[in-house]
Amino acid sequence: MTDLKQAGRFPLADRSVTRMGYGAMQLAGPGVFGPPKDRGAALAVLRAAVEAGVDHIDTSDFYGPHITNQLIREALHPYPRDLVIVTKVGAVRGADASWNPAQSPAELARAVHDNLRNLGLDVLDVVNLRLMGDVHAPSEGSIEAPFTALAELQRQGFIRHLGLSNATPAQVAQAQGIAKVVCVQNHYNLAHRADDVFIDDLARQGIAYVPFFPLGGFTPLQSGILSKVAARLEATPMQVALAWLLARSPNILLIPGTSSLAHLRENLTAASLALPADALSELDGIGRPAG
Ligand SMILES: NC(=O)c1ccc[n+]([C@@H]2O[C@H](COP(=O)([O-])OP(=O)(O)OC[C@H]3O[C@@H](n4cnc5c(N)ncnc54)[C@H](OP(=O)(O)O)[C@@H]3O)[C@@H](O)[C@H]2O)c1
Repeated sequence: MTDLKQAGRFPLADRSVTRMGYGAMQLAGPGVFGPPKDRGAALAVLRAAVEAGVDHIDTSDFYGPHITNQLIREALHPYPRDLVIVTKVGAVRGADASWNPAQSPAELARAVHDNLRNLGLDVLDVVNLRLMGDVHAPSEGSIEAPFTALAELQRQGFIRHLGLSNATPAQVAQAQGIAKVVCVQNHYNLAHRADDVFIDDLARQGIAYVPFFPLGGFTPLQSGILSKVAARLEATPMQVALAWLLARSPNILLIPGTSSLAHLRENLTAASLALPADALSELDGIGRPAG
């Protein structure tokens, strides 16, 4: 049985969570749209994650849409007291599976209520505002209007804590002038290191950084160096990629996504994989910005 304790813990909102969590996006159908091909397997993955000690699950009502949250509810409700469910708002899905910005106060309120209903909750633990200036990477622009609308929903008691996703440091600073920010969820992994400086700054502030696509996302990471280091440590490349993130900074919380029980178990085992200094420095070379 994997011991997740070895991953350590970090504060998230008003609690502390194990740094090895789970991202539920892969549970919906292909393209994160429609039902999973094997509903029973999706429910089993969620239950196995929590049984193994995962106490931080990342989701959104725009996965499916609605379906991933409904699976979480069916598998885990009533939720364990120590489980933190983090969701995100700011987009809606088109009938063609497209991802479209939805950041007006009315759209954000609708999204919060959709999450509450589909997760079966009276209040959401953490809601990230998913910025959509550029769908694939953070881009500058004021977030005052949508973040103020979410802060109002928080004041009304529907949300405990707020975070941001796909955000720049300037946008996080702007949000902090409106309400407390407890986490930032951006694209980051061994090969995609644009947020290196940002992560360290958030660590100094005690704010959790939650990389999405920790394994490379829809196209899992491939690297000769990663494979070589993994073979030497008798681990898999995905385990080494996760262990590298755990070693990278104490404020990094992992939410690797999978629809497979075997992959879930493989990924959770990375909690106890300590990377020796020579492996860390080889891995650092994969995505370190040039210069
Ligand atoms: N804020 C945002 O904009 C945003 C964007 C994307 C994701 N997210 C969140 O971040 C979480 C993680 O991202 P992600 O799920 O997209 O990507 P990921 O964790 O980087 O990788 C998931 C992909 O890797 C595969 N995989 C997982 N474990 C594996 C293993 N041990 N061996 C081989 N392949 C493996 C999965 O396929 P199988 O299902 O076959 O295992 C899936 O294709 C999501 O679940 C979601 O909660 C947030």
